[in-house]
Amino acid sequence: MFRPAVTRQAVKALNQSTRPAALAATPRHFLRPISTTVPRAQKDDKEDPFAKATTKAPEGAAGEHEGKYARTDESVVIEYPDDAHMPPSPVVQGRGGMHFKRTLAQFSLENRVTLVTGGARGLGLVMSQGIVASGSNLAIVDLNKEEAEDSAKKLVEQFQKENPGLEELPNVTAHYADVSNPESVNNALSEVISKHGKIDHLVTSAGFTENFDAINYPYDRMQKLWGVNVDGSYLFATGVAKHLMERKAPGSIVMIGSMSGAIVNVPQPQAPYNAAKAAVRHLASSFAVEWAGQDIRVNCISPGYMLTALTRKILDENPDLRDKWISLIPAGKMGVPEDLMGAVTFLLSDASKYITGADLRVDGGYTLT
Ligand SMILES: NC(=O)c1ccc[n+]([C@@H]2O[C@H](COP(=O)([O-])OP(=O)(O)OC[C@H]3O[C@@H](n4cnc5c(N)ncnc54)[C@H](O)[C@@H]3O)[C@@H](O)[C@H]2O)c1
Repeated sequence: MFRPAVTRQAVKALNQSTRPAALAATPRHFLRPISTTVPRAQKDDKEDPFAKATTKAPEGAAGEHEGKYARTDESVVIEYPDDAHMPPSPVVQGRGGMHFKRTLAQFSLENRVTLVTGGARGLGLVMSQGIVASGSNLAIVDLNKEEAEDSAKKLVEQFQKENPGLEELPNVTAHYADVSNPESVNNALSEVISKHGKIDHLVTSAGFTENFDAINYPYDRMQKLWGVNVDGSYLFATGVAKHLMERKAPGSIVMIGSMSGAIVNVPQPQAPYNAAKAAVRHLASSFAVEWAGQDIRVNCISPGYMLTALTRKILDENPDLRDKWISLIPAGKMGVPEDLMGAVTFLLSDASKYITGADLRVDGGYTLT
């Protein structure tokens, strides 16, 4: 392993000072003078609070600060709510209107059809708005078809409000699928293709997280979590890629991972989710390589803590958790779903034509520290 010259000199000097008397008689003038300060590694000060807090210290030696901000807390248990307790997700306003500022044409998604899984609410719904505002037609696919239909309707109404006088409205449709079920995925893909004629882009946003400590994680919940987050992303990505290959058409896919695929969140324990999102990120890289020759790009977006209706509800009920999360974000605040509009449009559009297999972190710098 690399050792800087100064360290080598210091070690040499220490050896000189501790060697046997016969050798110690050797003249020392050829040694380069170095600092005579006792190296820090040699220090064994039992009162030094930093020394106490090293891994050499017995458990508890560093008092209540030991690992305080870097450990999971098994008492944090958050279950994914059922539909009856799910807060509604409004479509966002004032972001999608026609504008007359110069913008690079490559960012446009005009004449494209984009399928967004999990688009009925949350991040998927707001990304859908960004995609429609950028010119694409849209198919929302969700487990909750009723909510998907309602969101599709509201999305078009909002678009109309922000673009008065526009003659041609975007074609936005809603479809049912359980993304973790291959048959359901195939049915949804056929339905979307029959309604829109084709699919050019895919965003896999269907996914969820829950918090249980690893040892007590209910096994059926863990399987469900992996089924939706991992299998769901896999099944839709391969289904859309197959369709693009059959058409011999280029395409672009964005898979929604999470910063949790790169770091371990604290304090809430969520081992299966973290592993699932790491899998999503690496699936995107693997698909990117497999399909590069067919002009199909696959990238991943890894959001940090985003303030959706659901996270807002959870954090309103757990203000301590909110404070801990925010204290760990260099930007000093959580993201809002609108922060993903530009990121997803960029990765779907020709503006990112030579980008494939990338992981775009939209996390306010969380994963940097
Ligand atoms: N909100 C955040 O802070 C955050 C951070 C990082 C990553 N993410 C990821 O972003 C994605 C969207 O999260 P969100 O916060 O918008 O969640 P959300 O719960 O608000 O929305 C998820 C949507 O997916 C749908 N869905 C769930 N299971 C499904 C299934 N089996 N088949 C089809 N649809 C299904 C739900 O009905 C819902 O409409 C998820 O993959 C999540 O892991 C979220």
